[in-house]
Amino acid sequence: MKKYLTLVNKENKIKPSFIKKIELVKRKNYVKEEVLIEKQTALAFDELKEFLKTKNIFMEIDDSYRSIEHQKELKEQFKNQYGEEYANNIVAEPGTSEHHTGLAIDIVLQVDGKYDEDNDEIFEHLSYYKEFVPFLSEYGFILRYPEGKENITGYPYEPWHIRYVGKTPAKIIEKNNWTLEEYLTKFSCVLYVNKEKGMTSFDVVNEISEIFGITKVGHTGTLDPLAEGVLVVTVGKATKIAELLTAEDKEYIAGVLLGVETDTLDITGTVVKSRPVDLSKDIEQAVNSFEKTYLQEVPIYSAIKVKGKKLYEYARENKKVELPKKKVTIKKIKLLSSDNDTFLIKALVTKGCYIRSLIRDIGLSLDIYATMTTLVRTKQGQISIEDTNTIEEIKQGKYKLHSIEEVLNLPVIEVEKELEKRIKTGQKIPNKYNIEDKVIFKNKKKEILGIYKVEKDKLRVWKNF
Ligand code: DAL
Ligand code: ZN
Repeated sequence: MKKYLTLVNKENKIKPSFIKKIELVKRKNYVKEEVLIEKQTALAFDELKEFLKTKNIFMEIDDSYRSIEHQKELKEQFKNQYGEEYANNIVAEPGTSEHHTGLAIDIVLQVDGKYDEDNDEIFEHLSYYKEFVPFLSEYGFILRYPEGKENITGYPYEPWHIRYVGKTPAKIIEKNNWTLEEYLTKFSCVLYVNKEKGMTSFDVVNEISEIFGITKVGHTGTLDPLAEGVLVVTVGKATKIAELLTAEDKEYIAGVLLGVETDTLDITGTVVKSRPVDLSKDIEQAVNSFEKTYLQEVPIYSAIKVKGKKLYEYARENKKVELPKKKVTIKKIKLLSSDNDTFLIKALVTKGCYIRSLIRDIGLSLDIYATMTTLVRTKQGQISIEDTNTIEEIKQGKYKLHSIEEVLNLPVIEVEKELEKRIKTGQKIPNKYNIEDKVIFKNKKKEILGIYKVEKDKLRVWKNF
């Protein structure tokens, strides 16, 4: 969940609204004093602690949630005990400690039958404090201030401070050897989702946003609630390439009911026209005749704008409007099966083609009304339904993260430092690489800098990263 990814550090103070929102529960620390912990964090910690016992690691809580007042007292105490410099280095300014979230826990381990009382003792027993680290992510925790990342986190190595972020982000953070700061800025990917019937495309975006804790999530090519199948979802910086993915050809399998037409052109709508089915023409022939480019009238229940207003708004207000026609190409179409007044088709179409409009048009060519009953997107570009995962599977950790370059099928060029700066600032560069359309530029660290597009003999920035 997004709240578990809340960033509190030297630059990002805790928001008072966050403190009001979280639910804190009670636990006992290693000296049996009461401590407060965010609920989900506490439950995950209970499980981690139980698991670690099976590895002969005995972990207890030292401290978790701290009020701003408590942090002030702690800073004073550290100043007295260790001196001003050490205290300023290691204890966050009140208001900037992630202990204010209830998502952080300072832990202690039992070493030779006793728990470490202070930081010096922990550093003496460092080897013990490295043993539990590989098990953290399975329970949704990360080591928040790891060794070697001081310049990013702003704090020296703290082997005792763990932070709950949720299992999915914790696994990704661990795999990439990132800090929370790096996850929030660097994590980007494309996910191939199998949308279930009943969900809107926006519901899928929200679910993905919750699972990965990332706010910036988009989808490419809307699927209505009735439809299911391939929905390509972009996360983080990958949202920048959504339009390229939306433009790809799509393949669908659709069910058709003959004899009725509804206002929405699918079975969820209200029947507006009906006539008993009396077929004089051949369905297969009619279907095959649509393997062509034609001007397709867009459905009134669509988000296409006419005079600045969405078509479905005209429909809701019962206002007359001329429906625009758009050029679409049906690259392949096939009748899969037919049975009395129903049939099933498979079609590969270009961007902007509405399958429910196509079905209405096939009906018209058969002198009959037709309505779409089911719709499965089986392909988008090179991405097939076999490559997708349902939201439930993704929640269980069953998913693949695809990189921008993997899904784009564009040439990739790694550049030296000097060119890196020019690309990062979006300057034009000569096309000495014989690029024909677009190119992805990366630096030597394999980070994407930008996507450039050919313009005469130059390359011009198309998207900056
Ligand atoms: N020691 C950590 C940074 C804190 O005081 O929140
Ligand atoms: Zn701490």
